[in-house]
Amino acid sequence: MIISAQGLRKTFTTKSRKGTQTVEAVRGVDLEVKNGEIFGVLGPNGAGKTTTIRMLATLIAPDAGTAIVAGHDVSKEPTAVRRKLGYVSQSGGVEDDVSPRAQITMAARIHGVPDPAARAAEILTDLELADLADRPGNTLSGGQKRRVAIALGLVHSPPLLFLDEPTTGLDPQNRANLWDRIRTLREKGTSVLLSTHYLDEADALCDRLVIVDHGQVVAQGTPAELKREVSGDVVTLRLDDLTRAAEVLKPHARDIRVDDDLLRVYVDDGEHALPALLRLLEENGLALRSISLDRATLDDVFLAKTGRSLRDTGVSE
Ligand SMILES: Nc1ncnc2c1ncn2[C@@H]1O[C@H](COP(=O)(O)OP(=O)(O)OP(=O)(O)O)[C@@H](O)[C@H]1O
Ligand SMILES: [Mg+2]
Repeated sequence: MIISAQGLRKTFTTKSRKGTQTVEAVRGVDLEVKNGEIFGVLGPNGAGKTTTIRMLATLIAPDAGTAIVAGHDVSKEPTAVRRKLGYVSQSGGVEDDVSPRAQITMAARIHGVPDPAARAAEILTDLELADLADRPGNTLSGGQKRRVAIALGLVHSPPLLFLDEPTTGLDPQNRANLWDRIRTLREKGTSVLLSTHYLDEADALCDRLVIVDHGQVVAQGTPAELKREVSGDVVTLRLDDLTRAAEVLKPHARDIRVDDDLLRVYVDDGEHALPALLRLLEENGLALRSISLDRATLDDVFLAKTGRSLRDTGVSE
């Protein structure tokens, strides 16, 4: 295990003119990340992802709980932990008026890397930044800045990299490109812990993940395990009388959920269940507007565990 955390907790207290406000950002999180895997923390805005990562990166102290990161205790040996990890924050941390080369060389020097200039040149080439290396940071595009931020996190070749929402704000092409780079890091033996609120990112990129909500882990496993746990397939129906349809179909489904104006019917084998469901609706005079059959997604897992859809939690995709 490269990360093993138990019972992590963090409460923030803020004082303002309206009085003291307390936020329980992380409420008892357990995490086990294996060597060499891409591990995801998936959850909506405010779920506690950044706070969890910052505790594991020794940037803030937990109120309770323990964590061993890359062989060292975050509370007792923070310096040893920091030496072993790279941390790329949600906002990036690329300087506006400094060139990527200067910034990366400086970071290499701070980390005590033997030949800082040579290491900077190497990582700039690795991340295909060599052509932009000498321009001021503020002339780079969002995707280019993200790559510089990742180069800064990797400059001392850490065995463990933390990426807090690495692809937020990137266009689909830059996202796919970054996913490939993260996979390449895994191939080279780097363990990656990343947070995301994108369901497809967690599904496509992560070997294992936890789903967090309101500071707690609500589900964990491989994407396939999580989806299997919820159900095999989902039949999504659009019709007028959702309540009646739910009553009629309930005996024939593993689970049924009303989600806005949709009815989601969870069945073991969608292909074979579909004709029977259609017959039942027709026999009961329920007119159907549309129907689709999908394999379960991580959003179905989130819905099953929290009663809400991750798509409806204020996160725009
Ligand atoms: N320094 C702080 N002071 C007070 N409250 C904080 C602080 N940092 C985080 N919080 C609160 O803790 C909760 C969890 O925040 P956190 O940043 O960990 O969420 P997140 O899952 O990373 O969300 P996002 O997807 O928006 O980045 C939120 O309610 C947030 O407002
Ligand atoms: Mg965050």
